[in-house]
Amino acid sequence: MRVLVIGGGGREHTLCWKISQSPRVDEIFCIPGNGGIEKVAICRELPYEKDFSSLISFVRREKIDFTVVGPEAPLVGGIVDQFEKEGLKIFGPSRKAARLEGSKVYAKQFMKKYGIPTAEFETFSDLKKAIDYIDEQKEPLVVKADGLAGGKGSIVTRSKEEAIEAARQLMEDKIFGSAGERIVVEKRLKGEELSFFVITDGVSFKVLVSSRDYKPAYDGDKGPNTGGMGSYSPAPLRPSLFKKIINRVVIPTLEGMKKEGTPYKGVLYLGLMIHSGEPKVLEYNCRFGDPETQVILPRLFNDIMELFQAVDKQRLDAVDLKWRSHATTCVVLASKGYPGSYEKGKPIEGLDNLTRIRNVFAFCAGVKRENGRFLTNGGRVVGITGMGKNLKESIETAYRAVKKISFEGMHYRRDIGYKGLVS
Ligand code: AMP
Ligand code: GLY
Repeated sequence: MRVLVIGGGGREHTLCWKISQSPRVDEIFCIPGNGGIEKVAICRELPYEKDFSSLISFVRREKIDFTVVGPEAPLVGGIVDQFEKEGLKIFGPSRKAARLEGSKVYAKQFMKKYGIPTAEFETFSDLKKAIDYIDEQKEPLVVKADGLAGGKGSIVTRSKEEAIEAARQLMEDKIFGSAGERIVVEKRLKGEELSFFVITDGVSFKVLVSSRDYKPAYDGDKGPNTGGMGSYSPAPLRPSLFKKIINRVVIPTLEGMKKEGTPYKGVLYLGLMIHSGEPKVLEYNCRFGDPETQVILPRLFNDIMELFQAVDKQRLDAVDLKWRSHATTCVVLASKGYPGSYEKGKPIEGLDNLTRIRNVFAFCAGVKRENGRFLTNGGRVVGITGMGKNLKESIETAYRAVKKISFEGMHYRRDIGYKGLVS
C-alpha cells in the first residue's frame, strides 16, 4: 500500500520511520517532509494547513491508499472531513472533534459540562471584563488564547500585572491574531506534568506507554517554553493514578464526545498536571506529541499500519498493543536563539554516522539536505533517541550519541530523563 504522512518535524520523521517497517507498505510520501525524512519517504512541498485541494489531487494522482496527519493545523482545519467526503482513507479526528485542541474555550466548557477535572476558569471576549476579573483574583493565573498559536498561546503569569499584560497582548495587541479574540483565564496549577496518549476508533480505546516531555528551554526547567526539548518513556506512573486518569479523564472525555455527536477518532493527547496524586487536564491535543512520539514509537512492537487501519475499520478492540520493556530518552538539539529567532543553513556534522549506532535513532526536524550535506533549517533541528534496558541506560546512550553531532550554535538540555530516575 501507498501511505502519505502530513507534516515535516521530528514527530513525522518518527511516524515515517515506523511506517517504513510495515510489511504492508510499498511506498511512503511525506508533505512537506524534511532532509532526514527523505531517507524513508518521497518528500513534496504542497500547501497542507488550510487548503486541502492540491493535497487531494496529489493523493488521487499518486494513488495513495492511506494518509496519516501529524500536526494539529490541518486537523483543526477539517482535513479529515474533506478527505472522507472524497472517499479517501485518513487517520485523525474530524474538524468538530479536533476542537478539543482548536478552541480552548470549547475544551474548557466541554470539561465543565462533563465534570472532567481541570483548573477553575472563566472565558472572555471583552478585554475590560477580563481585566476586572483578573483584578479580583488572589492566586496566580494562566491566560490562554482560544485558538491555535503554535504552542505559545498559554501565558503562565506570576502576578496580576503580568496576567493583565498577557490579556492585553492577546486581545488588544493581537499577538496571535484572531486566536486571541477570546481568552481563557484559569488558576495556575502546581505539580508535575504528564503527557498521556490514547488511540481511539470512536468505540474503544488503547493507552500508549507513558512519557514526559520537557518544555522549558534550559536545564532545571528554566527559561522560555519551547515546543519540547526532550522526552523519556516510560514516565513513572502509579497504578492508582493510571486508574484515575482512565476513569475521570479518558472515559468521560470519549463518552462526552460521543454524546456531543462528535465521536473522537485518532490519537488524543492529554496534557495533565498531577498534584498529590490527582490528575487535572491542562490541555487536550488532537494528535501525537512532539517529541513524545520519538520515545513512544521506538518502543512499539506492532505494525503501526495495522493500528491505523484498525481505527479506520473501528476494530481497535481486536488489536493487542505490544511494547518493548526497554526505556527511551530523546534529546532535542536546537539552533542558537531557539525558541526566539535563530539562523538557518548551518552545516550539521555527524548525522550520517549516527544511524549506524545500535539503539540510537536520529529523528530530524529542522533539517534540509543540499548537495549531499545536512543543513539546519529550523529551531528544533534533530531529536536523538537512545534506547536502553532501563531509563539510566537510555539517557547514557542518547547523550553519547549527542556528542557525535555538532553544528554552529547547537544547544540542548543536559538533564533530560533525570526526573524519571529520582521519582
Ligand atoms: P497549554 O497550551 O494549555 O498546553 O499550556 C502550555 C503549558 O503551560 C503547559 O504545558 C503548562 O506547562 C503550562 N500551563 C498551562 N495551563 C496551566 C495551569 N493551569 N497551571 C500551570 N501551568 C499551566
Ligand atoms: N510536546 C508538546 C506537544 O507536542 O505539544
